[in-house]
Amino acid sequence: MPDLSKITNIEDLRVIAKRRVPKMFYDYADSGAWTEGTYRANESDFQKIKLRQRVAVNMEGRSLRTTMIGQETAMPVAIAPTGLTGMQHADGEILGARAAKAFGIPFTLSTMSICSLEDIAENTGRHPFWFQLYVMKDRDFIERLIERAKAANVTALQLTLDLQILGQRHKDIKNGLTAPPKPTIKNLINLATKPRWCMGMLGTKRRTFGNIAGHAKGVKDLSSLSSWTAEQFDPALSWADVEWIKKLWGGKLILKGVMDVEDARLAAASGADALIVSNHGGRQLDGAPSSIAALPAIVDAVGTEIEVWMDGGIRSGQDVLKARALGARGTLIGRSFLYGLGAFGQEGVTRALQIIQKELDITMAFCGRTNIDEVDSSILLPGTF
Ligand code: GLV
Repeated sequence: MPDLSKITNIEDLRVIAKRRVPKMFYDYADSGAWTEGTYRANESDFQKIKLRQRVAVNMEGRSLRTTMIGQETAMPVAIAPTGLTGMQHADGEILGARAAKAFGIPFTLSTMSICSLEDIAENTGRHPFWFQLYVMKDRDFIERLIERAKAANVTALQLTLDLQILGQRHKDIKNGLTAPPKPTIKNLINLATKPRWCMGMLGTKRRTFGNIAGHAKGVKDLSSLSSWTAEQFDPALSWADVEWIKKLWGGKLILKGVMDVEDARLAAASGADALIVSNHGGRQLDGAPSSIAALPAIVDAVGTEIEVWMDGGIRSGQDVLKARALGARGTLIGRSFLYGLGAFGQEGVTRALQIIQKELDITMAFCGRTNIDEVDSSILLPGTF
Protein backbone atom coordinates (compact mmCIF):
# COMPACT_ATOMS: atom_id res chain seq x y z
CA MET A 1 0.00 0.00 0.00
CA PRO A 2 1.43 3.42 -0.91
CA ASP A 3 1.92 5.91 1.93
CA LEU A 4 -0.59 8.61 1.12
CA SER A 5 -0.19 10.63 4.30
CA LYS A 6 1.55 13.45 2.39
CA ILE A 7 -1.26 13.63 -0.14
CA THR A 8 -3.20 16.43 1.51
CA ASN A 9 -5.54 17.81 -1.12
CA ILE A 10 -7.28 16.93 -4.38
CA GLU A 11 -4.76 18.94 -6.39
CA ASP A 12 -1.99 16.57 -5.21
CA LEU A 13 -3.97 13.67 -6.65
CA ARG A 14 -4.59 15.52 -9.92
CA VAL A 15 -0.88 16.14 -10.44
CA ILE A 16 -0.06 12.45 -9.92
CA ALA A 17 -2.97 11.27 -12.09
CA LYS A 18 -1.70 13.50 -14.89
CA ARG A 19 1.65 11.70 -14.71
CA ARG A 20 0.23 8.18 -14.54
CA VAL A 21 -2.79 8.19 -16.87
CA PRO A 22 -2.33 8.14 -20.67
CA LYS A 23 -2.77 11.61 -22.11
CA MET A 24 -5.97 10.92 -24.03
CA PHE A 25 -7.79 9.68 -20.91
CA TYR A 26 -6.39 12.28 -18.55
CA ASP A 27 -7.42 14.96 -21.05
CA TYR A 28 -10.86 13.37 -21.45
CA ALA A 29 -11.48 13.78 -17.72
CA ASP A 30 -9.77 17.12 -17.29
CA SER A 31 -11.42 19.10 -20.06
CA GLY A 32 -14.54 21.06 -20.86
CA ALA A 33 -16.33 22.12 -24.01
CA TRP A 34 -14.96 24.83 -26.32
CA THR A 35 -13.28 27.62 -24.35
CA GLU A 36 -13.68 25.67 -21.09
CA GLY A 37 -15.07 28.85 -19.52
CA THR A 38 -17.94 27.06 -17.79
CA TYR A 39 -15.60 24.30 -16.65
CA ARG A 40 -13.34 26.90 -14.99
CA ALA A 41 -16.27 28.89 -13.56
CA ASN A 42 -17.55 25.76 -11.80
CA GLU A 43 -14.43 25.88 -9.64
CA SER A 44 -13.74 29.60 -9.44
CA ASP A 45 -17.30 30.60 -8.46
CA PHE A 46 -16.95 28.49 -5.32
CA GLN A 47 -13.93 30.60 -4.36
CA LYS A 48 -15.98 33.81 -4.46
CA ILE A 49 -18.31 32.59 -1.72
CA LYS A 50 -16.95 33.50 1.71
CA LEU A 51 -17.61 31.78 5.03
CA ARG A 52 -18.52 33.38 8.35
CA GLN A 53 -15.99 32.34 10.97
CA ARG A 54 -17.53 31.83 14.42
CA VAL A 55 -15.64 31.39 17.70
CA ALA A 56 -16.27 30.04 21.18
CA VAL A 57 -18.98 27.71 19.89
CA ASN A 58 -18.81 24.14 21.23
CA MET A 59 -17.35 22.06 18.38
CA GLU A 60 -17.64 18.66 20.04
CA GLY A 61 -19.66 15.73 18.71
CA ARG A 62 -19.75 16.70 15.04
CA SER A 63 -21.75 14.69 12.48
CA LEU A 64 -21.67 14.71 8.70
CA ARG A 65 -24.09 11.81 8.31
CA THR A 66 -27.22 12.57 6.33
CA THR A 67 -29.50 11.11 3.67
CA MET A 68 -29.84 11.55 -0.09
CA ILE A 69 -33.28 10.42 -1.39
CA GLY A 70 -33.80 8.78 1.97
CA GLN A 71 -30.65 6.66 1.65
CA GLU A 72 -28.05 6.96 4.43
CA THR A 73 -24.67 8.43 3.52
CA ALA A 74 -21.55 9.17 5.59
CA MET A 75 -21.50 12.73 4.14
CA PRO A 76 -23.58 14.57 1.52
CA VAL A 77 -21.32 13.42 -1.28
CA ALA A 78 -21.85 10.69 -3.89
CA ILE A 79 -19.53 9.52 -6.64
CA ALA A 80 -20.79 10.94 -9.93
CA PRO A 81 -21.19 8.85 -13.06
CA THR A 82 -18.13 9.40 -15.26
CA GLY A 83 -17.56 7.90 -18.70
CA LEU A 84 -14.58 5.62 -19.46
CA THR A 85 -13.60 5.38 -15.78
CA GLY A 86 -12.00 1.99 -16.39
CA MET A 87 -9.55 3.79 -18.69
CA GLN A 88 -8.24 6.04 -15.89
CA HIS A 89 -7.16 2.87 -14.11
CA ALA A 90 -7.77 -0.81 -14.91
CA ASP A 91 -11.14 -1.93 -13.48
CA GLY A 92 -11.69 1.67 -12.34
CA GLU A 93 -15.43 1.42 -11.77
CA ILE A 94 -15.06 -1.68 -9.59
CA LEU A 95 -12.37 0.06 -7.52
CA GLY A 96 -14.49 3.20 -7.18
CA ALA A 97 -17.54 1.20 -6.11
CA ARG A 98 -15.51 -0.69 -3.52
CA ALA A 99 -14.02 2.51 -2.09
CA ALA A 100 -17.47 4.13 -1.89
CA LYS A 101 -18.92 1.06 -0.20
CA ALA A 102 -16.18 1.01 2.44
CA PHE A 103 -16.60 4.75 3.02
CA GLY A 104 -20.38 4.56 3.24
CA ILE A 105 -21.33 6.88 0.36
CA PRO A 106 -23.25 6.16 -2.88
CA PHE A 107 -21.44 5.18 -6.08
CA THR A 108 -22.94 5.87 -9.51
CA LEU A 109 -22.02 3.79 -12.54
CA SER A 110 -22.20 5.49 -15.95
CA THR A 111 -23.86 3.94 -18.99
CA MET A 112 -20.54 4.71 -20.73
CA SER A 113 -18.48 2.77 -18.20
CA ILE A 114 -15.85 0.19 -18.99
CA CYS A 115 -16.90 -2.24 -16.23
CA SER A 116 -20.49 -3.41 -16.62
CA LEU A 117 -23.46 -3.37 -14.25
CA GLU A 118 -22.85 -7.07 -13.65
CA ASP A 119 -19.13 -6.48 -12.94
CA ILE A 120 -20.02 -4.02 -10.17
CA ALA A 121 -22.62 -6.31 -8.61
CA GLU A 122 -20.30 -9.33 -8.66
CA ASN A 123 -17.28 -7.49 -7.30
CA THR A 124 -18.95 -5.60 -4.46
CA GLY A 125 -20.91 -8.45 -2.90
CA ARG A 126 -24.08 -7.08 -4.53
CA HIS A 127 -23.80 -3.88 -2.48
CA PRO A 128 -26.48 -1.37 -3.61
CA PHE A 129 -25.29 1.24 -6.11
CA TRP A 130 -26.76 3.82 -8.51
CA PHE A 131 -26.84 3.70 -12.30
CA GLN A 132 -26.79 6.60 -14.74
CA LEU A 133 -28.80 6.20 -17.92
CA TYR A 134 -28.59 7.87 -21.30
CA VAL A 135 -31.61 7.61 -23.54
CA MET A 136 -30.65 5.99 -26.81
CA LYS A 137 -32.63 5.55 -29.99
CA ASP A 138 -32.73 1.78 -29.48
CA ARG A 139 -35.54 1.59 -26.91
CA ASP A 140 -35.29 -2.21 -26.63
CA PHE A 141 -31.71 -1.75 -25.49
CA ILE A 142 -32.86 0.75 -22.84
CA GLU A 143 -35.50 -1.68 -21.60
CA ARG A 144 -32.91 -4.43 -21.28
CA LEU A 145 -30.44 -2.08 -19.60
CA ILE A 146 -33.06 -1.16 -16.99
CA GLU A 147 -33.80 -4.83 -16.35
CA ARG A 148 -30.06 -5.49 -15.97
CA ALA A 149 -29.82 -2.57 -13.50
CA LYS A 150 -32.63 -4.06 -11.41
CA ALA A 151 -30.95 -7.46 -11.44
CA ALA A 152 -27.63 -5.87 -10.37
CA ASN A 153 -29.21 -4.35 -7.22
CA VAL A 154 -29.24 -0.74 -8.41
CA THR A 155 -31.27 1.36 -5.94
CA ALA A 156 -31.59 4.62 -7.88
CA LEU A 157 -31.51 5.56 -11.53
CA GLN A 158 -29.89 8.84 -12.62
CA LEU A 159 -31.33 9.89 -15.93
CA THR A 160 -29.04 12.35 -17.72
CA LEU A 161 -30.96 15.01 -19.61
CA ASP A 162 -28.16 17.21 -20.94
CA LEU A 163 -26.42 14.90 -23.39
CA GLN A 164 -28.77 14.32 -26.31
CA ILE A 165 -25.82 15.41 -28.39
CA LEU A 166 -22.19 15.56 -27.33
CA GLY A 167 -20.58 18.92 -26.56
CA GLN A 168 -17.42 19.59 -28.53
CA ARG A 169 -14.28 19.01 -26.52
CA HIS A 170 -11.26 20.06 -28.52
CA LYS A 171 -8.75 17.86 -26.71
CA ASP A 172 -10.70 14.65 -27.41
CA ILE A 173 -10.78 15.42 -31.12
CA LYS A 174 -7.09 16.25 -31.23
CA ASN A 175 -6.17 13.13 -29.21
CA GLY A 176 -8.37 10.85 -31.33
CA LEU A 177 -10.03 9.49 -28.16
CA THR A 178 -11.02 5.80 -28.32
CA ALA A 179 -11.33 2.99 -25.76
CA PRO A 180 -9.12 1.05 -25.98
CA PRO A 181 -6.58 3.46 -27.55
CA LYS A 182 -5.64 2.76 -31.17
CA PRO A 183 -2.01 1.57 -31.57
CA THR A 184 -0.79 4.69 -33.37
CA ILE A 185 2.84 5.77 -33.01
CA LYS A 186 1.77 8.80 -30.95
CA ASN A 187 -0.29 6.64 -28.55
CA LEU A 188 2.40 3.98 -28.23
CA ILE A 189 5.03 6.57 -27.38
CA ASN A 190 2.75 8.01 -24.70
CA LEU A 191 1.81 4.56 -23.32
CA ALA A 192 5.50 3.67 -23.04
CA THR A 193 5.74 6.34 -20.31
CA LYS A 194 2.83 4.84 -18.31
CA PRO A 195 4.07 1.37 -17.23
CA ARG A 196 1.74 1.01 -14.22
CA TRP A 197 -1.30 1.80 -16.32
CA CYS A 198 -0.20 -0.67 -19.02
CA MET A 199 0.41 -3.45 -16.47
CA GLY A 200 -3.06 -2.88 -15.04
CA MET A 201 -4.65 -3.02 -18.47
CA LEU A 202 -2.79 -6.19 -19.39
CA GLY A 203 -4.20 -7.76 -16.22
CA THR A 204 -7.86 -7.08 -17.04
CA LYS A 205 -10.22 -8.10 -19.82
CA ARG A 206 -12.32 -4.95 -19.36
CA ARG A 207 -11.11 -2.53 -22.06
CA THR A 208 -14.20 -1.24 -23.83
CA PHE A 209 -17.76 -0.15 -22.98
CA GLY A 210 -18.95 -3.03 -20.79
CA ASN A 211 -22.64 -2.11 -20.61
CA ILE A 212 -22.89 -1.98 -24.38
CA ALA A 213 -20.42 -4.42 -25.98
CA GLY A 214 -22.32 -7.58 -26.79
CA HIS A 215 -25.66 -6.03 -25.72
CA ALA A 216 -26.54 -3.32 -28.28
CA LYS A 217 -27.37 -4.20 -31.86
CA GLY A 218 -25.93 -2.46 -34.91
CA VAL A 219 -23.25 -0.50 -33.07
CA LYS A 220 -20.54 0.11 -35.63
CA ASP A 221 -17.70 1.89 -33.93
CA LEU A 222 -18.06 1.25 -30.23
CA SER A 223 -14.55 2.33 -29.36
CA SER A 224 -15.21 5.97 -30.29
CA LEU A 225 -17.39 7.81 -27.83
CA SER A 226 -18.11 10.67 -30.21
CA SER A 227 -19.19 8.62 -33.22
CA TRP A 228 -21.12 6.23 -31.02
CA THR A 229 -22.96 9.07 -29.29
CA ALA A 230 -23.83 10.70 -32.60
CA GLU A 231 -25.16 7.37 -33.89
CA GLN A 232 -27.04 6.09 -30.85
CA PHE A 233 -28.04 8.87 -28.45
CA ASP A 234 -31.54 10.20 -28.98
CA PRO A 235 -31.57 13.91 -29.90
CA ALA A 236 -35.39 13.82 -29.68
CA LEU A 237 -35.44 13.05 -25.93
CA SER A 238 -38.48 14.68 -24.27
CA TRP A 239 -40.36 14.81 -20.96
CA ALA A 240 -42.59 12.03 -22.32
CA ASP A 241 -39.50 9.80 -22.35
CA VAL A 242 -38.80 10.75 -18.74
CA GLU A 243 -42.29 9.53 -17.87
CA TRP A 244 -41.73 6.30 -19.85
CA ILE A 245 -38.46 5.62 -18.05
CA LYS A 246 -39.98 6.43 -14.67
CA LYS A 247 -42.69 3.80 -15.25
CA LEU A 248 -40.28 1.22 -16.64
CA TRP A 249 -37.87 1.65 -13.75
CA GLY A 250 -40.42 1.99 -10.96
CA GLY A 251 -37.82 2.94 -8.33
CA LYS A 252 -36.05 6.10 -7.13
CA LEU A 253 -35.39 8.45 -10.04
CA ILE A 254 -32.88 11.31 -10.19
CA LEU A 255 -32.83 13.77 -13.09
CA LYS A 256 -29.36 15.03 -13.93
CA GLY A 257 -28.37 18.11 -15.91
CA VAL A 258 -30.95 20.73 -14.91
CA MET A 259 -29.68 24.33 -15.10
CA ASP A 260 -32.82 26.37 -15.64
CA VAL A 261 -35.71 27.22 -13.30
CA GLU A 262 -38.32 26.33 -15.92
CA ASP A 263 -36.75 22.91 -16.45
CA ALA A 264 -36.50 22.47 -12.67
CA ARG A 265 -40.27 23.03 -12.40
CA LEU A 266 -40.85 20.37 -15.07
CA ALA A 267 -38.46 18.03 -13.26
CA ALA A 268 -40.37 18.52 -10.00
CA ALA A 269 -43.69 17.99 -11.79
CA SER A 270 -42.39 14.74 -13.30
CA GLY A 271 -42.48 13.15 -9.85
CA ALA A 272 -38.74 12.38 -9.79
CA ASP A 273 -37.15 12.06 -6.36
CA ALA A 274 -34.21 14.42 -6.93
CA LEU A 275 -32.74 16.69 -9.57
CA ILE A 276 -29.09 17.49 -10.04
CA VAL A 277 -28.12 21.04 -10.92
CA SER A 278 -25.34 20.21 -13.35
CA ASN A 279 -23.72 21.54 -16.50
CA HIS A 280 -21.98 18.18 -16.98
CA GLY A 281 -18.74 19.49 -15.53
CA GLY A 282 -18.64 22.24 -18.18
CA ARG A 283 -18.44 19.56 -20.88
CA GLN A 284 -21.63 20.38 -22.75
CA LEU A 285 -22.85 23.98 -23.11
CA ASP A 286 -19.83 26.23 -22.71
CA GLY A 287 -21.19 29.65 -21.73
CA ALA A 288 -23.72 28.24 -19.26
CA PRO A 289 -23.31 29.55 -15.69
CA SER A 290 -21.47 27.54 -13.09
CA SER A 291 -23.58 24.98 -11.23
CA ILE A 292 -23.10 26.75 -7.89
CA ALA A 293 -24.31 30.04 -9.44
CA ALA A 294 -27.40 28.32 -10.87
CA LEU A 295 -28.24 26.48 -7.64
CA PRO A 296 -29.97 29.13 -5.43
CA ALA A 297 -32.71 30.09 -7.92
CA ILE A 298 -33.54 26.43 -8.50
CA VAL A 299 -33.67 25.71 -4.76
CA ASP A 300 -35.97 28.73 -4.35
CA ALA A 301 -38.27 27.53 -7.10
CA VAL A 302 -38.61 23.80 -6.31
CA GLY A 303 -36.64 23.03 -3.16
CA THR A 304 -39.73 22.13 -1.15
CA GLU A 305 -41.05 19.75 -3.82
CA ILE A 306 -37.99 17.75 -4.83
CA GLU A 307 -34.50 17.15 -3.43
CA VAL A 308 -32.05 19.45 -5.18
CA TRP A 309 -28.43 18.28 -5.52
CA MET A 310 -25.55 19.73 -7.48
CA ASP A 311 -22.30 18.74 -9.16
CA GLY A 312 -19.53 20.63 -10.95
CA GLY A 313 -16.37 22.13 -9.53
CA ILE A 314 -16.23 20.38 -6.16
CA ARG A 315 -12.56 20.04 -5.29
CA SER A 316 -12.79 20.27 -1.50
CA GLY A 317 -15.03 19.71 1.49
CA GLN A 318 -15.40 23.49 1.67
CA ASP A 319 -17.16 23.37 -1.69
CA VAL A 320 -19.51 20.68 -0.37
CA LEU A 321 -20.31 22.87 2.65
CA LYS A 322 -21.02 25.90 0.46
CA ALA A 323 -23.31 23.86 -1.80
CA ARG A 324 -25.13 22.54 1.24
CA ALA A 325 -25.45 26.07 2.63
CA LEU A 326 -27.07 27.16 -0.62
CA GLY A 327 -29.65 24.40 -0.42
CA ALA A 328 -28.14 21.36 -2.15
CA ARG A 329 -29.09 18.35 -0.07
CA GLY A 330 -26.43 16.32 -1.83
CA THR A 331 -23.39 16.80 -4.05
CA LEU A 332 -21.56 14.59 -6.54
CA ILE A 333 -17.87 14.44 -7.32
CA GLY A 334 -16.60 13.43 -10.76
CA ARG A 335 -13.08 14.73 -11.37
CA SER A 336 -12.07 14.67 -7.68
CA PHE A 337 -12.89 10.96 -7.77
CA LEU A 338 -11.10 10.35 -11.08
CA TYR A 339 -7.91 12.09 -9.96
CA GLY A 340 -7.74 9.81 -6.92
CA LEU A 341 -8.41 6.77 -9.06
CA GLY A 342 -5.90 7.68 -11.75
CA ALA A 343 -3.23 8.42 -9.16
CA PHE A 344 -3.51 5.40 -6.83
CA GLY A 345 -6.48 3.20 -7.79
CA GLN A 346 -8.84 2.27 -4.97
CA GLU A 347 -6.55 3.76 -2.27
CA GLY A 348 -6.50 7.02 -4.20
CA VAL A 349 -10.31 7.17 -4.25
CA THR A 350 -10.39 6.49 -0.53
CA ARG A 351 -7.80 9.24 -0.02
CA ALA A 352 -9.89 11.69 -2.06
CA LEU A 353 -12.93 10.90 0.10
CA GLN A 354 -10.92 11.26 3.32
CA ILE A 355 -9.59 14.63 2.18
CA ILE A 356 -13.06 15.94 1.32
CA GLN A 357 -14.56 14.58 4.55
CA LYS A 358 -11.88 16.20 6.71
CA GLU A 359 -12.16 19.56 4.95
CA LEU A 360 -15.93 19.45 5.29
CA ASP A 361 -15.80 18.53 8.97
CA ILE A 362 -13.25 21.16 10.00
CA THR A 363 -14.80 23.93 7.93
CA MET A 364 -18.25 23.21 9.37
CA ALA A 365 -16.76 23.44 12.87
CA PHE A 366 -15.05 26.78 12.16
CA CYS A 367 -18.41 28.07 10.95
CA GLY A 368 -19.86 27.18 14.33
CA ARG A 369 -21.96 24.16 13.35
CA THR A 370 -21.74 20.57 14.53
CA ASN A 371 -24.40 18.88 12.42
CA ILE A 372 -24.45 18.98 8.63
CA ASP A 373 -28.25 18.96 8.66
CA GLU A 374 -28.19 22.32 10.49
CA VAL A 375 -26.06 24.08 7.86
CA ASP A 376 -27.84 26.83 5.95
CA SER A 377 -26.97 30.10 4.20
CA SER A 378 -26.41 31.86 7.53
CA ILE A 379 -22.87 30.34 7.54
CA LEU A 380 -22.05 32.41 4.42
CA LEU A 381 -20.94 36.01 4.34
CA PRO A 382 -23.78 38.16 2.92
CA GLY A 383 -22.93 39.75 -0.41
CA THR A 384 -20.60 36.92 -1.45
CA PHE A 385 -23.24 34.52 -2.79
C1 GLV B 1 -19.91 11.66 -20.79
O1 GLV B 1 -20.69 11.65 -19.90
C2 GLV B 1 -18.98 12.70 -21.02
O2 GLV B 1 -19.14 13.78 -20.44
O3 GLV B 1 -18.03 12.47 -21.75
